[in-house]
Amino acid sequence: MNTYSDKVMDHFQNPRNVGEVENADGVGEVGNPTCGDMMRISIRVKENRIDEIKFKTLGCGAAIATSSMTTELAKGKTIDEAMQITRASVAEALDGLPPEKMHCSNLAADGLHAAINDYRKKHGAGE
Ligand code: FES
Repeated sequence: MNTYSDKVMDHFQNPRNVGEVENADGVGEVGNPTCGDMMRISIRVKENRIDEIKFKTLGCGAAIATSSMTTELAKGKTIDEAMQITRASVAEALDGLPPEKMHCSNLAADGLHAAINDYRKKHGAGE
């Protein structure tokens, strides 16, 4: 039985920040080994903060909702703060996910971290 919270349904039906940031500073692409779904997150960084963030997810509804929530959580955060966003914090911000869908939240947090690592690589690991 899948019981999705209102927030999951909202982010699934009206996903925020869908698409691709033009001339992105960092891009993260990850696949979910459990189901083969994929997602891509692109970010623009200004003064060490995530100024713009977009995602494309080829995945289930929970993956789309968690991707959408992740972009909302990460927007405006410093790079270091965004690195602290975990699968658990995304699931919590969505008022939880059904246990059999927890693996779907891996994609978004991992994609975000991959995009940040890509940014750091391109712009000197710096701080
Ligand atoms: Fe693949 Fe949810 S079933 S991410």
